[in-house]
Amino acid sequence: MTQATSKRALLDVRDLKTYFTIGKTGLFQAKSQLKAVDGVSFEVREGEVLSLVGESGCGKSTVGRTLTQLERATGGRADFDGQDILAMSPRAFRPLRRQIQMIFQDPFASLNPRRSIEQTLAEPLFIHKLARNWAEARSKIVETLEQVGMDPKVMQRYPHEFSGGQRQRIGIARVMILKPRLVIADEAVSALDVSIQAQVLNLLKKLQQDNGLSMLFISHDLGVVRHISDRVAVMYKGRIVEMGDKSQIFENPQHDYTRRLLASIPRIAQKAA
Ligand SMILES: Nc1ncnc2c1ncn2[C@@H]1O[C@H](COP(=O)(O)OP(=O)(O)O)[C@@H](O)[C@H]1O
Ligand SMILES: [Mg+2]
Repeated sequence: MTQATSKRALLDVRDLKTYFTIGKTGLFQAKSQLKAVDGVSFEVREGEVLSLVGESGCGKSTVGRTLTQLERATGGRADFDGQDILAMSPRAFRPLRRQIQMIFQDPFASLNPRRSIEQTLAEPLFIHKLARNWAEARSKIVETLEQVGMDPKVMQRYPHEFSGGQRQRIGIARVMILKPRLVIADEAVSALDVSIQAQVLNLLKKLQQDNGLSMLFISHDLGVVRHISDRVAVMYKGRIVEMGDKSQIFENPQHDYTRRLLASIPRIAQKAA
């Protein structure tokens, strides 16, 4: 048995559907449905990075948002550690929120500008009862900032004092401090300069490996996906058209759409990977 097949699925998504109802545009026009995610199945195994890649609008973010209950699923199931998280009430889901964390494209949007980094990182610790007092919180903050490659002294500073790459490191710290089991990263490096992208990707990969994390890495950019994935699922118009080990997808793509996506990677990114 290969290493990949011996790993257990932490998240098992079966026939996931998320439809949006679009308002009627004219008096006699019926409401219509937009099938953003239309029967998607995949698993994220313990300690692996599965990437979900495809062009803008194909439904990638909706998959991530549905799995974290930001959108309601129209159908299907998603077993996390054996329990269907889509069927859970928000109350039942709450204890799992610490274990399933999201990293977004724009960390600034999710960092409160009036809160110091220390306050920003302490908040989730208190919410999830992982620290009983400030001394405990501070020692976890120091440890986590070091993990993401930042000087712990930065904790007295505010988000606007940092560059895009540093802000994403803080965003990653805010997730890692909770010791999640599954991280869903949605276009986590897409807003960064190419040179910074590689640093943040390397950091994510290192944290993932050191902590045995499972990661669903969502990106429109195959060049980026190549750096971090173990396996890749290619999404097109709400469906997965091809899925396989990274080497298979990059070296022996079966689907036309995958070939077209590959052909659109800039040559520089191909060489760098
Ligand atoms: N809340 C929503 N209401 C209506 N349509 C939506 C909503 N969220 C996303 N969509 C639509 O669903 C499709 C998939 O969007 P999205 O999942 O954001 O794609 P991607 O992340 O791959 O770019 C798009 O056509 C988008 O406009
Ligand atoms: Mg998206």
